[in-house]
Amino acid sequence: MPRKIILDVDPGHDDAIAILLAHGNPEIDLVAVTTVAGNQILPKVTYNAMRVATLVGADVPIARGAEFPLVRKQTTDGELTVGSVHGTSGLDGPALPEPTMELDPRPAAQLIVDTVMAAEPQEITLVPVGPLTNIALAMRLEPKIIGRVREVVLMGGAYTQGNATPAAEFNIYADPEAASAVFSADWQVTMVGLDLTHQAVATPEIKERIRAIGSPLAQTVVAWLDYFGGTYDSVYKLPHPPIHDACAVARVINPDILHVEDAFVAVETRGQWTYGDTVTDFLGAFGEPFNTLVATKLDFDAFWNLIIDAITTISAQQSQLSSVQS
Ligand code: BDR
Ligand code: CA
Repeated sequence: MPRKIILDVDPGHDDAIAILLAHGNPEIDLVAVTTVAGNQILPKVTYNAMRVATLVGADVPIARGAEFPLVRKQTTDGELTVGSVHGTSGLDGPALPEPTMELDPRPAAQLIVDTVMAAEPQEITLVPVGPLTNIALAMRLEPKIIGRVREVVLMGGAYTQGNATPAAEFNIYADPEAASAVFSADWQVTMVGLDLTHQAVATPEIKERIRAIGSPLAQTVVAWLDYFGGTYDSVYKLPHPPIHDACAVARVINPDILHVEDAFVAVETRGQWTYGDTVTDFLGAFGEPFNTLVATKLDFDAFWNLIIDAITTISAQQSQLSSVQS
């Protein structure tokens, strides 16, 4: 049985590839996409989510979520002193189709609550790959979702070094109070943080394999990787761009792709220099019960095979459709 997920996104190049993977992999049943301000302001990331869903042919409810973080002043990727990696649109690079769908009329938090409460217990997995504002709002709207969700597999955090600040990863830094609520709730959380996602890099060999698929979709993905690779190089001095968000989806598809270790994770919400840090205690030094599975090692080949298979599958569907239409 495919795993039902709600993907909460702020596209974002790696969010776009996460949507593609979730739609293109047969082990996943993508039941909804929700958007949250993060990489860019809410109208931009919502438009991007709709354009990406149109591009890949994902016919799922898409709901607009939180415009601002719970407590802190808003920060978007473009405002960070380290600079922007996703550009002024939030998804700069190749031209994309205009959305063909309407937005779901409900706020994202309501759609999350409705979907989780209508499903069987433990049926829905939440996969948030942006700031955690929508998830915290959904928990507040209906606390029963905490016992009903199968698990939360999130992209965010780091146990060594951040990227928004030396201490904090962007998604957590963008809404630390929401992240704190999510990590401390009584559900299974898997943290797919930077220590893991920096292993999921798009090397020239990987780009060549994608290019070789030869479809318009593959060309778009290569153009995203070129754009994102350029900004990652100039902002972070990393030679190849990490495809963070798709790692969380990959974990749901095949748990063995990511090695995880148990730990206690707390989000720092008061530190002057450490605001948004995901303090990760693998050894039990704080004496707190472990609350998180922390991803540490990626099976690089298996990860990229999933992405390449998803692009190939969607490309084949699209070429079949266009030959039927012509
Ligand atoms: C995270 O921040 C965003 O730029 C990416 O989309 C990813 O979710 C990485 O720190
Ligand atoms: Ca993201």
